[in-house]
Amino acid sequence: MAERFYITTPIYYVNAKPHLGHAYTTIVADVARRFHTMRGSETYFLTGTDEHGDKIVQAAKDSHMTPKEYVDHISQLFQDLWPELNISNDDFIRTTYPGHMAVVERILQKIYDNGDIYFSEYEGLYCFGCERFYTERELVDGKCPDHDKAPEVIKESNYFFRMSKYQDWLIEHIHQNPDFIRPERYRNEVLAFLREPLEDLCISRPKSRLQWGITLPFDPNYVTYVWFDALLNYVSAMGYPEGERFQKFWPSAQHVVAKDILKPHGIYWPTMLKAAGIPVYQHLNVHGYWNIDQTKMSKTIGNVVEPLAMKSTYGLDAFRFFLMRDMVFGLDSSFSEEAFVQRINSDLANDLGNLFSRVLTMAHKYFEGQVPPYDPTTDKEMHLDLEADAARAMTDFETAMLGFEFHKGLIAIWSFIGRLNKCIDVSAPWELAKRSSTRKQLECVIYNLLEGLRVIAGLIYPVMPDTARTMQHHLGQDPDAAFYRLDRIGKWKTLVPGTKLRKSKSLFPRVDLEKLTTKPQAAKTPQALTPSLRPLIDIDEFAHVDLRVATVIKAEAIPKAKKLLKLEVDMGERRTIVAGIAKFYRPEELVGRQVIIVANLKPAKLMGIESQGMLLAAVDGDQCTISAVEKPARPGARIS
Ligand code: MSP
Repeated sequence: MAERFYITTPIYYVNAKPHLGHAYTTIVADVARRFHTMRGSETYFLTGTDEHGDKIVQAAKDSHMTPKEYVDHISQLFQDLWPELNISNDDFIRTTYPGHMAVVERILQKIYDNGDIYFSEYEGLYCFGCERFYTERELVDGKCPDHDKAPEVIKESNYFFRMSKYQDWLIEHIHQNPDFIRPERYRNEVLAFLREPLEDLCISRPKSRLQWGITLPFDPNYVTYVWFDALLNYVSAMGYPEGERFQKFWPSAQHVVAKDILKPHGIYWPTMLKAAGIPVYQHLNVHGYWNIDQTKMSKTIGNVVEPLAMKSTYGLDAFRFFLMRDMVFGLDSSFSEEAFVQRINSDLANDLGNLFSRVLTMAHKYFEGQVPPYDPTTDKEMHLDLEADAARAMTDFETAMLGFEFHKGLIAIWSFIGRLNKCIDVSAPWELAKRSSTRKQLECVIYNLLEGLRVIAGLIYPVMPDTARTMQHHLGQDPDAAFYRLDRIGKWKTLVPGTKLRKSKSLFPRVDLEKLTTKPQAAKTPQALTPSLRPLIDIDEFAHVDLRVATVIKAEAIPKAKKLLKLEVDMGERRTIVAGIAKFYRPEELVGRQVIIVANLKPAKLMGIESQGMLLAAVDGDQCTISAVEKPARPGARIS
């Protein structure tokens, strides 16, 4: 019976558009699924969106949409992005699908009936950003480590899952299955956490506080905690409990997540599964974080990397390659376009691209574009040994890929590419071509090089499916039949002499950093970005920004704040705006002037004053001009 392989990504929150981080995890899952398919396994790949909870309600409100409208809109952005990145997911789950909601209710009821869910009053430290309670020791300087905000004390009656009951079982399971959570550092992190007594998990939210969720089947006054709901997607999408897909694939389940959600996946999820009587997953594969030029990617800093922008500037396969090659799975990595360009130029254009075009060009020049004849005796005499090198590359590649060590898998392929390039230099086919007495040697070298290219085209397929196809096509092979299976790829001497080859092609043009319209070095803050480097937004996104005409009624300096002025404005309603223009304008110059305000920005406190919007101004070095309307306009008039 064929082995099976079921792989999942986290289901992403729909409170923000997909970015590099989401793309990385999803490409990892895609690469793993393609690799396992090549090994002959029956595979299934699930991704989706997580659509309930406070965060989503807040984001919908900020966008002036209902939660339903909002989740439909953002979920669609994810669904539209994945095909653009050659993601081969079989299904896309949304937690607002009725089928998912029914499974959540069913499992909650089951655990409740078994006595592992109880009702109790609880007072705890709650972080609204994370949508969870924190224990004192998890806080850093009294603040949530992810949101850098002190959590609020909340006291309420809620339902709790008896997670503590499964603590010893989980510790034992992790010890018995050393690669249950991998790489090892994350396994150790979970075990370290489990050294302290585990608290029970609060799995409900009163409807008085939150309605956007799945109602508890045993109490209509509560909705399900978003994590309890979300984690169950991995089984609901498969048709738990009776569905054929569930029966078939669940025993081989593997998850891919980043370190930010280790605890829900490493602790909540296995204990939930145990309590529900469902066997636990096989592996939790945990990767690190992509940072941008050493800083965290964030909308506020304006350094969010958009996958489609990378694809359109550098090409999809180069992007997929860079992500897989540069991040050591499990560790953090810093994304920079310079590093990306260097990889393209060295690994792709130079090593692989040159090899491909050199070999094809020689095959055309010396053998009229056909695979030359192959003679085993000459091969033996010449000791090229490429067959043995290919076999080694394949073994190293397979071992690395099975262990989620993608960078090592690619290193194995690239060391073989290096061998082939060296073989060209050492055997110097152009010299062999000069004499008819060395014709057999020339045939032998070119045949072996073409075979090497065929193997490479097969091995790169999971990471660079389009390039793999192009290469196979140029080698006169049927792409699907030729690289679909590892065992076929490994059969040395597959190429049939006489097969017609296509003309050489540049697989990866070199990128000239100087000529790039985008200057990667400068891309650190929004101010530093040239307009051409800014991510493009569509009209719908722009429509979320509410710009209004406002008349300044009052303006005053703020004690101890050299840069700030406090403005009272009339924009149909009175608002207080704190603006960083004290260096450029005296308060009395502003009264009576009409300005433009971003009216739907989340209020922010500056020097203890709540700013209820943002004043627009043209800032250029040490010059600043507040934007204004040409003729007097009604305060509150919308700018569109
Ligand atoms: N909705 C939850 C997951 C529920 S799964 C049952 C969630 N969503 S999320 O939108 O915040 O996605 C988090 C995941 O996105 C990370 O675990 C990781 O897979 C990916 N990444 C987001 N930012 C990332 C980086 N900067 N770097 C790498 N991956 C990152 O958590």
